[in-house]
Amino acid sequence: MKEITTLWWDDTLAGIRFIDQTLLPTQYVIAECTTVDRLITAIKRLEIRGAPALGVAGGYGVALAAITCTGASSDAFVRAVRDEAGRIRESRPTAVNLSWGVDRVLARFLAATDATSAKTAALAEARAIADEDTLCCHAIGDYGAALLPDQCTVLTHCNAGALACSSWGTALGVIRSAVTAGKRVKVISCETRPLLQGARLTAWELARDGIDVTVITDSTAAHIMRTGKIDAVIVGADRITGDAVFNKIGTYMHAVCASHHDIPFYVAAPLSTFDATRSEQEVPLEERGREELAVMGNRTLIPDGVPVKNFAFDATPMELISAIITERGVVRPPFNISALLSRTAPNNEP
Ligand code: MRU
Repeated sequence: MKEITTLWWDDTLAGIRFIDQTLLPTQYVIAECTTVDRLITAIKRLEIRGAPALGVAGGYGVALAAITCTGASSDAFVRAVRDEAGRIRESRPTAVNLSWGVDRVLARFLAATDATSAKTAALAEARAIADEDTLCCHAIGDYGAALLPDQCTVLTHCNAGALACSSWGTALGVIRSAVTAGKRVKVISCETRPLLQGARLTAWELARDGIDVTVITDSTAAHIMRTGKIDAVIVGADRITGDAVFNKIGTYMHAVCASHHDIPFYVAAPLSTFDATRSEQEVPLEERGREELAVMGNRTLIPDGVPVKNFAFDATPMELISAIITERGVVRPPFNISALLSRTAPNNEP
């Protein structure tokens, strides 16, 4: 497999370098970011995207704030970093990893006794998040690979690959680990309207690794499930509450279809994606701009004046999910999220 590192801290730059995901698959450009404003733009524009990658970006963002903020007094400096952390936290609302990464690094920053050690501690914690994410993805990959038959066709939605994480991926991490273990896996990647993460990013990543991938329109998924061509569906997640899995819009539709056709529906996600304190109704669902639906290239697709609804995510109720694959093992219904989070030993329920 060819290594992909999605974003990293560059000491010489004193900032973040990242793959600009808006330009793939036609251009592979490493962008740079030395201000919190630029990072927020990159997150809002989906130059950096995918829940675990947003967790890493949030962590590095607080480190960046610690390095770039100034204040006439120690209190003013801390206040400035807190404010910047708040702005990063709010740049996208649904993927809980973003606020998790921000809060984890902010806590280390606030625990330090002076400005110099606070800056060092913030950067060290952000780097730890990135490193841990890669380890989590490999663990998820190994647990998940065991669930797949030796020869199978798997359907996925959006991009839960290396580009959505620090590297390797969650749902695509499972596929990568299965292929590495010698399984013959074919992947059907749903294009994922309107921003086409499945067509642009998942297909790019998998083709680059020589993994058999075919892109379909989102509306083809039901047809191929019905005609028996799919052995499993695997997706990532942006937030997992006690009662639902939030992921890219269209995921719920696939889960309903998979359930109807007795196809296992797997969610692959690190524990940083879990939010045991909230229920589905309490989670903010990101709605994005009209232009994402109404304009393609230089063509207008929807008549002026006709409104659109552009939800970025949907929620899939737990009863439609066959198993959740985490770095601590595989959990099956009834999902006890609080017990999972408090458990330290790996678990691999049959
Ligand atoms: O809007 P995006 O591209 O950030 O949405 C990403 C997804 O929905 C992914 O499936 C999810 O973050 C899981 S990534 C491992």
